[in-house]
Amino acid sequence: MNLKDKLSSIARIDLLRSATPLHKLANLSEYLGRDIYIKRDDMTPLAMGGNKLRKLEYLFADALQKKAKIIVTAGAIQSNHVRQTAAIAAMYGLKCVALLENPLQSNNPLFLKNGNKLLTDLFNTQCYFCDELTDPNAQMQELIKAHHLQDAYIVPVGGSNALGSLGYVNCALEIAHQKPADIDFAAVIVASGSAGTHAGLAIGLQAVLPDTPVIGVTVSRFKEDQQPKVEKLQQEISELLNINSLPNVLLWDDYFLPSYGMPNNKGQQAIELLAQKEGILLDPVYTGKAMAGLIEHIIKDKVSGNKPLLFIHTGGSPALFAYSEIDVAYIS
Ligand SMILES: Cc1ncc(COP(=O)(O)O)c(C=O)c1O
Repeated sequence: MNLKDKLSSIARIDLLRSATPLHKLANLSEYLGRDIYIKRDDMTPLAMGGNKLRKLEYLFADALQKKAKIIVTAGAIQSNHVRQTAAIAAMYGLKCVALLENPLQSNNPLFLKNGNKLLTDLFNTQCYFCDELTDPNAQMQELIKAHHLQDAYIVPVGGSNALGSLGYVNCALEIAHQKPADIDFAAVIVASGSAGTHAGLAIGLQAVLPDTPVIGVTVSRFKEDQQPKVEKLQQEISELLNINSLPNVLLWDDYFLPSYGMPNNKGQQAIELLAQKEGILLDPVYTGKAMAGLIEHIIKDKVSGNKPLLFIHTGGSPALFAYSEIDVAYIS
């Protein structure tokens, strides 16, 4: 069975309806002297878009099949994942319960109430708060027990278990189908957080575009901790799909400091560059930092050859409204 058939044999709800755009960024390419393409997963068609929709296509299919009545998930107060999960729960008439942490320990009212949180509330999510998500699955289990939640289905942080990551195996097939025939990408660059996007893309591309590696830009932890996380997920996805060989995990980890969720000057400059050259909105937590990695590697001539690069825009722009008063850390 080929990869496409294997994927088709696993239950999925088609929320995407059609492929997200893939196109060249003409002005940025001219500015950097290297062709850059973008995959617009910020334009997935629900609740201001983002990468979670593809994962939730599989996770909600599973939840509905198990007759869940309540979706329980977790993330930061400004989580894009929680916002998208809550939107889909609303669409299916399910209650959404979210356990939220405040990674910046910020009291700024915009951070606490605007951006993703405003939208999460609009979807009528029942939010609970904790100091830190140290062991989110166990904390969600405790929440279910403490509040006697019946027929609850846990969507893991970022939707990143093997089942959710299939959304990005699917995306790899979509990229191979959309890619102009005369173009070979030198690499695909993507933010690597809970790792499902990175791991799914890497497994999928290995099958359909084996000469195109995926490079993850870390947004929450250093390479030594992120690498085993991606590897473990790749292993679990490959077991689900009955695939034997695993791709090497490639990571750039100079772009997320001072910490997860805290904006830095390189990310901010990338946000401004994309806005001003292309009219495209990135975000301070994920895509700004990932784009900063791409830009710096090109400027410092650290991406060999001259083939184009493909940036996966995973969304996140609602956070811009929440972060407008948060200081940007200078990182050299
Ligand atoms: C906008 C955005 N980009 C990238 C990511 C990272 O994706 P993953 O968690 O699959 O690594 C996230 C995760 O929350 C996100 O919200």
